[in-house]
Amino acid sequence: GLAIGKLLGTTGLVTLDPGFTNTAACTSEITYIDGAAGILRYRGYPIEELAKSSSFLEVAYLLINGELPDPETFERFQRRIGRHRLLHEDFRSFFTSFPSSGHPMAILQAGIAGLATYYEDTLNPHDPYEIELATVLLLSKMPTMISYIARRAIGLPLLYPDPKRGYVEDFLNMTFGMPYQVRDIDPTVVRALDMLLILHADHEQNCSTSTVRLVGSSDANMYASVAAGVGALSGPLHGGANEAVLRMLDRIQSEGMSTTEFVRKVKNKEDGVRLMGFGHRVYKNYDPRAALVKETAHEVLTRLGSKDGDRKLEIAMELEEVALSDDYFISRSLYPNVDFYTGLIYQAMGFPTKMFTPLFALGRLPGWIAQYREMMSDPAKRIGRPRQVYTGEVERHYVAMHRRK
Ligand code: ACO
Repeated sequence: GLAIGKLLGTTGLVTLDPGFTNTAACTSEITYIDGAAGILRYRGYPIEELAKSSSFLEVAYLLINGELPDPETFERFQRRIGRHRLLHEDFRSFFTSFPSSGHPMAILQAGIAGLATYYEDTLNPHDPYEIELATVLLLSKMPTMISYIARRAIGLPLLYPDPKRGYVEDFLNMTFGMPYQVRDIDPTVVRALDMLLILHADHEQNCSTSTVRLVGSSDANMYASVAAGVGALSGPLHGGANEAVLRMLDRIQSEGMSTTEFVRKVKNKEDGVRLMGFGHRVYKNYDPRAALVKETAHEVLTRLGSKDGDRKLEIAMELEEVALSDDYFISRSLYPNVDFYTGLIYQAMGFPTKMFTPLFALGRLPGWIAQYREMMSDPAKRIGRPRQVYTGEVERHYVAMHRRK
């Protein structure tokens, strides 16, 4: 609604739009979504084409630079990312200063913010050289950081990156490999994770990306801004949903509850329970990413032969069927979102549930960087500073403590 500013003590007209359902905060050339038609394109390329034929690093280049790279440029970009994968040795002890049971998203957020202290010559967001180096360092070091966090949590020795391996393959090796054992990583698993990262790579002005932009609008460096994005992503209504979906499926399975009974609880809003992995602010149709993930879930689970995963996939598909034929979900246009099926794949790959949201963060990183850089190069950039409609006391006077009852 519109509030007449003068009446409310502000100057001019202020629009009130909780949750920014109708307010654009910027213009952008990066990602296009048509929520009614279920369309998602990065830099004009349909998500289905990129998921099928591209690679995560190529998509990262595309999002950040605006064009697909030619072979030579891409080779240079890949080599550069490969060279910077090592983390400063201090991070080994830095991570051990957190409880090993601590949530990986909290540790990741701290680790990313901490990078700013090691690379002080990459902090100026208006210097093209520094911003490019910060981009490369973040893309290179984030997988190493996430695998360190995962292994530290279970007490396994940390593995150094192997520049001979591809980006996603090396991440999987650092997470699941053993010292002195050179093992090939199943290419189906590498390809599936690469594809999932592509699907998460950008989604225009979602909660975490808007956070990155808002923090960066003060000219805060890229590490500080991305770390804030990690914080925003950790919430169960956003990136944390992938973890929440698996916990929901676990609960339904272990309590032996029927999917119809669970959906009934959701509809009656019992204990505020929601069907996690369902609904989206922008998609009022099937999330095109969810369709691709569902297909991959079948492939990966069949390939890895996960009995528990198979049962959970059945529960998830039943939930989807029950919900999509129910008026509560139909009338509110609630469909599965990207994370309804991802947790099942991550679990089958061997990731502990707490590691699911860091995987989302790894995927979303190129989008955060691209959006941060687009904002920095916008001549119309101003510090983000939302207004408010004040509804508190007009004016009152201080009463000494001893005179208050
Ligand atoms: N289960 C049950 N009811 C739901 C759900 C759900 N998952 N999502 C929305 N609703 C209902 C709400 O209760 C509300 O109904 P009401 O009008 O009777 O109160 C109506 O649908 C509209 O919901 P809002 O919360 O106003 O929608 P909003 O656009 O603000 O929220 C959100 C979108 C946060 C994604 C929401 O659908 C949700 O909580 N989903 C579950 C969490 C989730 O999966 N998040 C991941 C989002 S995608 C991502 O980050 C990758």
